[in-house]
Amino acid sequence: MLLTTLTELVKLVVRTLWQRWAGRCTSSRGLAGMTAIVTGASAGIGKEAAKDLAKRGARVILACRNVPKAQAVADHIISETGNKNVVVRQLDTSDLAFVRCFAKEVLQTEDAIHILVNNAGIAGKQMREVTRDGLELTMATNYYGHFLLTNLLLPRLKASAPSRIVNVSSAAHFFTWQINLKDLNFEKRTYSTMAAYSLSKLCNILFSAELADRLQGSGVTSNSLHPGAVSTDIIARAENSTTWWRRYCLHIGDILLSIFGKDSELGAQTIIHLAVAEEVEGVTGKYFDECKEAIPSWLALNNKLAKSLKERLASLSPNLLRLLDECSKGRTSPHPTARYEKTCLSGKTLAERSEVLPLTFLSPMTPPLMEGG
Ligand SMILES: NC(=O)c1ccc[n+]([C@@H]2O[C@H](COP(=O)([O-])OP(=O)(O)OC[C@H]3O[C@@H](n4cnc5c(N)ncnc54)[C@H](OP(=O)(O)O)[C@@H]3O)[C@@H](O)[C@H]2O)c1
Repeated sequence: MLLTTLTELVKLVVRTLWQRWAGRCTSSRGLAGMTAIVTGASAGIGKEAAKDLAKRGARVILACRNVPKAQAVADHIISETGNKNVVVRQLDTSDLAFVRCFAKEVLQTEDAIHILVNNAGIAGKQMREVTRDGLELTMATNYYGHFLLTNLLLPRLKASAPSRIVNVSSAAHFFTWQINLKDLNFEKRTYSTMAAYSLSKLCNILFSAELADRLQGSGVTSNSLHPGAVSTDIIARAENSTTWWRRYCLHIGDILLSIFGKDSELGAQTIIHLAVAEEVEGVTGKYFDECKEAIPSWLALNNKLAKSLKERLASLSPNLLRLLDECSKGRTSPHPTARYEKTCLSGKTLAERSEVLPLTFLSPMTPPLMEGG
């Protein structure tokens, strides 16, 4: 009992001292009349970022896969901030048809988008899993979905300029020393949870930089960031490993995070800084840590690689290829996923939706489709 209390006390002191060092967004800028989208806003860092943007008066769209969970978060944000303009839209970033549905719905309902925070993410899938698009699940959730979403929303972001795209990456990207562009999907080499996570986070930075290049002069900025080591559910949700040393590492990681990890409110600061601060107005193509510009890995700085990655992406999935073609040509032609889209937008019941989007197709991580999403 005494030992537990002492340990907790030491943890508290270390954490308090450690957190004083962390970067904070100092801008008090209001966002009345602006619209922000935050993916993965139902928990952790995304939830805190969404709350802050709502506090500043923005219309905030929580883009989340689990609607009841996100609605509870929206209700909490509304009661805490007094801003009633907080809404939930269903989005599963690991599923291309869903991403397309979401984008279509948002383009129909929102006249402007000023801030897009690409935050949703998973880590710790011990075994390689593929989505129904045939994409590796961690890469699909953390990267491909956001890649497609951003491209689909780009015309509206441009029309709403000045606008900002904020891509949540991680210092874990440093663990990728080389990229095999022909095996982004972990088909040829051995899959490991860290390799997949780290690669997805490197791709977030490369995408952010390539986008910034493409958007020069448009008034839309694109930056990426590491939020710090944050004590959220992301580690707790990581699947237990089959090997004892991996379990041991995870356990140590959990302990370290409980001592040195920031809380989610602090973890959201660099996102908020990039989304609102006056001092980063016009700053684009950069990587941030602790609300300051930082230097990512040398791979992340490779412009040629960023361009090749974009080209390579298109060959991974026929769906993605077609969608990207449509984006770049600025047209929306009939698409094989049109039936999913129609269902997403038609307000059908859960049972009716399940007929069109069979739940068996969904990955084990994905909660069932809910009504009203
Ligand atoms: N925590 C850290 O130390 C740390 C460090 C570096 C980078 N990051 C990055 O920060 C971001 C947020 O992580 P976090 O720590 O806040 O984790 P978290 O508490 O686990 O929150 C992750 C969020 O992403 C959502 N999400 C997961 N898969 C999704 C999908 N397929 N479609 C839509 N939403 C999905 C989750 O939704 P549900 O609630 O439905 O599960 C949740 O809202 C991630 O991109 C992560 O890589 C975190």
